[in-house]
Amino acid sequence: MHDRTKTLFIETVGCQMNVLDSELVVGSLRRQGYELVHQPTAADVILFNTCSVRAHAEEKIYSALGRLRRHKRENPDIVLGVLGCMAQKDQEEVRRRAPHVDMVVGTGQLARVPELVEEVKRTREPQYALSLGRADGGKHEVAASFESFDPPRDASMRPTPFQAYVRIQIGCDKFCTYCVVPATRGPEQSRHPDHIVAECRQLAGEGCKEVTLIGQTVNSYKFDHGDGRRSRLSDLISRIHDIAGIERIKFVTNFPKDMTDDLLDAVRELPKAVKYLHVPVQSGCDDVLKRMKRLYTVDGYWEMLHRSREKVPGVAISSDFIVGFCGESDKSFEKTVDLVREARFKNSFIFKYSPRPGTKADDLYPDDIPEELKKRRNNDLLAVQNVNSLEDHKTRIGDTVEVLVEGPSKVGERQSAGVRQLTGRTMTDHIVVFDGHDRLVGQTLKVHIREASPFTLYGVAETGEVGGGGLIPRSAVADPSSQRRSLPLV
Ligand code: 5AD
Ligand code: SF4
Repeated sequence: MHDRTKTLFIETVGCQMNVLDSELVVGSLRRQGYELVHQPTAADVILFNTCSVRAHAEEKIYSALGRLRRHKRENPDIVLGVLGCMAQKDQEEVRRRAPHVDMVVGTGQLARVPELVEEVKRTREPQYALSLGRADGGKHEVAASFESFDPPRDASMRPTPFQAYVRIQIGCDKFCTYCVVPATRGPEQSRHPDHIVAECRQLAGEGCKEVTLIGQTVNSYKFDHGDGRRSRLSDLISRIHDIAGIERIKFVTNFPKDMTDDLLDAVRELPKAVKYLHVPVQSGCDDVLKRMKRLYTVDGYWEMLHRSREKVPGVAISSDFIVGFCGESDKSFEKTVDLVREARFKNSFIFKYSPRPGTKADDLYPDDIPEELKKRRNNDLLAVQNVNSLEDHKTRIGDTVEVLVEGPSKVGERQSAGVRQLTGRTMTDHIVVFDGHDRLVGQTLKVHIREASPFTLYGVAETGEVGGGGLIPRSAVADPSSQRRSLPLV
């Protein structure tokens, strides 16, 4: 009998690490004969790759699972799986809230997904694959239970085959008091540099031009070779730099205290290194930073900022903030506003504090800032950042910049194929929108900047093949959601 194609749907929320995990899970199921579909109700296997960093992300998934309850009752043969951070954090709780879920697979167990899907189909028994809790064993035992999932890459699984995330580290050992990641992704472990370089070489061979090295605190990357040699992030970037075909090397996300001079020197010296650093500060108030256990002071962060700008002229720096953290007084918040005003970040990702069960902050401090005030502080801080982003963007009008073209812009997606509005990024990670042709996607080209909004630069491509060349009308100005294209890691 002819076997019908097996189909797979996956929904991904959260950071770049999850985006990469989903790409790899889909790749591994495709090798088992699955084909990706875009409607959960059309799929034999429905997967949710989840995020636990804020309550909202979890609620979204539980709602989506709830909506599938009836579909699953009517189609009992399908396989419904919850993967990633929420699986590791909630464990059996996932099936208490959504009993129709068939498998719960943590971040450190994703290699087992194909085998577990088969197991569910064979036995119709719920399957769990979870790593140890941080206090459930010795350091090595816990670390060993979180495996870095790094199967062969599949270019066709990426929205843009010329760009790829490359995992260089898993887990986190910083234990910021508000953060669930050290629990959901386990101890910090760096991958062997030879494996990373080999993966980059393979990606380059398949036409990948830009690699983004990812880790929760990517600049803490260190690999001890066991013979006295140690590889740092700067060493890794230099090695990847030698790979023909790779044009750009990015890395996210950085921890302020680990921004060492050797790394900054590498970013300055190596032409392929993108001149952009995402270094979350979280708050501009020392008392808050202390309660967050961020391990640096505001002065310490300023020292890092000055040193980075001195060592890498023209570098763009962006940050994350949490507003409304426990005990954040008006005065504390004002200090954060002052920092944003003065630090001149390229952009800032701002989040309202969301207490996370199992974290130190949730145990120790009451969530004492009302939601309304969190919202107001979020808006106020964003307004200050937007003034700076617009000023920064305006200084770029008249410049000619090198843009790696990523695809149609939000406006371009609604235009018919051919000549349409495209979007790309500069070597300082600035978003540039311009009119062009589909065949420019994946190319690096020069764009003259003519206009600016707080989120986007508008320009004219220097290709000689695109007609018009006029300015993009105001109505076409990209919305702030274009920020989402570079979600912070965690
Ligand atoms: N509540 C709100 N924001 C959080 N982040 C991490 N944990 C929380 C939390 N409990 C934010 C931090 C981090 C970003 C990715 O998410 O700013 O840098
Ligand atoms: Fe680690 Fe970042 Fe979470 Fe802090 S905020 S614990 S550095 S992942």
